[in-house]
Parts: sequence; C-alpha cells; structure tokens
Amino acid sequence: MEKIPLCLIGCGGMGHRHILAYKELEDSGIGNIELMAVCDLNPRNAEMGGREIERLFGRKPLVFTDLDRALACSEIAAVDVVTDPSTHHTVAVPALRAGKHAIVEKPLGLTVRACQAIIAAARESGVVLATAENLRRDPPNRLARSILDHGLLEAPFLMIHNALGGDDQIIITPWRHLKDKGAIGLDMAVHYTDMVQYYLGEFDQISGRGLIVEPVRRRPANHGLDLESYRERFKSFPETVQATGEDGLIALYTMKSGAMVQFSYVAGGRGSGTFERSVHGRRAAFWAPGDRNGRPVILRLDGKELKGAEILPLLPNFAMSEITERLFGAGTVEYQLPFPPIDARHMAIEFHDFGEAVLKGTRPEVDGHLGMTAVAAVLGAYESALAGRQVGMAEVLAGEVRAYQEEIDRSLGL
Ligand SMILES: NC(=O)c1ccc[n+]([C@@H]2O[C@H](COP(=O)([O-])OP(=O)(O)OC[C@H]3O[C@@H](n4cnc5c(N)ncnc54)[C@H](O)[C@@H]3O)[C@@H](O)[C@H]2O)c1
Repeated sequence: MEKIPLCLIGCGGMGHRHILAYKELEDSGIGNIELMAVCDLNPRNAEMGGREIERLFGRKPLVFTDLDRALACSEIAAVDVVTDPSTHHTVAVPALRAGKHAIVEKPLGLTVRACQAIIAAARESGVVLATAENLRRDPPNRLARSILDHGLLEAPFLMIHNALGGDDQIIITPWRHLKDKGAIGLDMAVHYTDMVQYYLGEFDQISGRGLIVEPVRRRPANHGLDLESYRERFKSFPETVQATGEDGLIALYTMKSGAMVQFSYVAGGRGSGTFERSVHGRRAAFWAPGDRNGRPVILRLDGKELKGAEILPLLPNFAMSEITERLFGAGTVEYQLPFPPIDARHMAIEFHDFGEAVLKGTRPEVDGHLGMTAVAAVLGAYESALAGRQVGMAEVLAGEVRAYQEEIDRSLGL
C-alpha cells in the first residue's frame, strides 16, 4: 500500500502521543502514512521524538530543529502540526505553501483569522487540510451519531453538554492559562463544540460568556501526566501563573436545524465535578458517556432503556470505518481498555482518514472549515458577552464581531 511520507512538527506532550498513534496505524495492517521525520524548535524534544520513533518503529527518522529545513525536504509530502496553538498558523501556513498536505491539531487556530489564514493557504496550494479532532472517533460517539442519523429521536430539540469541575492547579502547561497562547477555555471546549457539530450539524446563533474562575493557577506537586517531555518542562514551571485566558465558558447555541444546545465547560468550580452529554427529541433521548472511557451510550425510547450494543438492532445502517473496526473490533460500541491505547487508536483513525484524503483526493471528515467553526463557536460565546447580545456564527466567521480576538490577532501579527 502507498504510504504518505510525513513529518511530525511539535514533539511536546501531544506530539509524543501522536507517535504512539502512528504506531497503532502502522500495526493496523492498513497504515497509509510513513512517519519519516520530526521537527521541534526545542532540540531536546526533537531528539526525544526521534528516539521514540526509532524505539517503536526500528528505523531512524530525520530530525529537524528548523522548520524551513524540514519544509525544504522534498521527500516529505505531509506534515502533522502538533505545536502549541498560538503557533499553528505560523507553522501550517508555510508548510501548506510549500505544497505539503497538513493535519493540524485542534484548535485549528487561536482566532478566526488564524484559521482563515491556514484554510486560504491550503486552498491556494491545492493540498489537503485536516483538523485533528479525536473525540468524535470514539465508537460510542459513532453510535450516538447513528442514533440521530436513523431518526430515532424524532426532531431533536435540545442537546445538553456540561463538563464542570476543577481546581486551581496549572492544567498540563502554563500556556493553557494565557489568552494569547491558547487558554484551556478554548483548548478543551473546542473538542466539545466539535461534538456538538458532529451530532447536530451547523451552528447558527450564539450567546454566552467566557469565565476565568481561577485567576491564579498554582504549580501542582507532580505533573500528573507521565510523559518525558512534560516531566522535563514541569521543572521549569513557575510557582504560580496569573491567568489571562478563560478557563471556561457558558453558552446557549441555536443550531441551523432549530435545535438548542445548553453548553458549559468550566475547568474550575471545586465542588462541581459533573459531566453530561445528552440529546433530547420528541420520541426518545440518549446520554453519551463522554470520551475515551468505553462506557455505553444509553437510549431511552418508548418507555425502554437500552444500553450500548443493545441499541444496535435499531440501527440497520450503522457502520464503522475499516480502520475503526480493525482497532476496536467490528461492532464494538463499548469497551474496557486503558487510556493510552484508546487515545492512540482514536488518533490512528483520524490519521488514516487524513491519509485517505491525500491518496484518494477525498475530503477529510474534519476539514479546515469544521476546525474553524468549532473554534468560532467557543470564541463566539466570548464575543457575545462583549457585544452584549446574541451573535450569529456568520458574523463571527465574517469577522464582524471580533472585539475579544483583536488583541490576540495583534499579538499574532494577523
Ligand atoms: N486532541 C487531544 O486530545 C489533545 C491533547 C493535548 C494537546 N492537544 C493539542 O496538541 C497541541 C500541542 O499540545 P502539547 O500539550 O503537546 O503542547 P506542548 O507545549 O507540550 O508542545 C508543543 C511543542 O511544539 C514545539 N514548537 C513550538 N513552536 C514550534 C515551531 N514553530 N516549530 C517546531 N516546533 C515548535 C515546542 O517546542 C514543544 O515541544 C495543541 O494544539 C493542543 O491543543 C490535543
């Protein structure tokens, strides 16, 4: 099978997890990408990435610490951008202009303008652009989407998406608390706005606000995530970080279908600790279990409660992609696995989809536009509070409301 020679750009915590996912893809037997190079401005992280590839794949990749040199390498056909969000456009735009296909980690860009710069570069070069969005790849989420596709709910009118709870510790890296670097309010909630659009289609109207629940974030006693790259940098974390970026948002969305979404994501609220993702229609409602935990979707229909695989007989057209079936097992819609393989398999599925788009000229499931609308749905809530009114997704995309983003765009030179 033809494989696309790819360079991983950004070998921090998530870059490391991507390497594990490329291994899952290769081991699936239908791998379509060859991870042949890494690039990171931090030589230590670049070398760490190189060593990890050699250990897992038994071959030495090219190791770059300079983006221009990596992009000048004619053997590289595609890049995977896993740098911190404020740099996505500064990496992706030159890569796309150099004719490389690109998959870019969420959030596609820090602002709508940053996303648009990336999308425009892909269009001008005629190459494939995908946004790396892993949560929708989870088999329970595929099942949930299929319940909607089969019309079992009948006229869904409400989605509830609440993820609340946290403390005052620094979340993974200090940049996740800084407005112009990609604060957690956007960094995490963008996954959830993607889940909203995955289930219910296009956003129409947005009202809401951003929050800084914990204004001062403290260095935790241990990092919590056992990845060498995070562990190393943890030593240099400051004792405290003054948060300049949101750690949450509360929003009410109206979708183009007319369905409404009650949405909150808050990485704070010390007594909270709650998660709900449910969709309600005239005839039925379902509760999805969240992500990367393998628990069953629960469907309540006609006075009965069905769980996980029990729902399958009601879904004659339910199908998962070949790569999903290979990695999770055919028809598997609930599972018990530790986090690392779950995480790696979801990403292997998104990489395979990107590879197919490059090889066959098809559209990746999460393209640049969907990556941008997931970002705009979060920023739209912040913009609506500043504008003092409900804002339209169209206005946010057209840059007609951008008071919140102006300062970031200025710092990014956009
Ligand atoms: N999908 C998920 O589940 C998930 C989880 C975690 C992070 N992420 C995303 O992954 C991305 C990276 O997050 P992270 O936690 O790994 O961040 P990180 O800070 O740990 O790593 C970023 C790496 O990028 C490198 N870098 C920065 N600018 C560069 C440039 N111009 N060229 C080359 N290398 C550069 C840094 O040196 C660092 O090694 C973010 O977009 C984040 O939102 C996604």
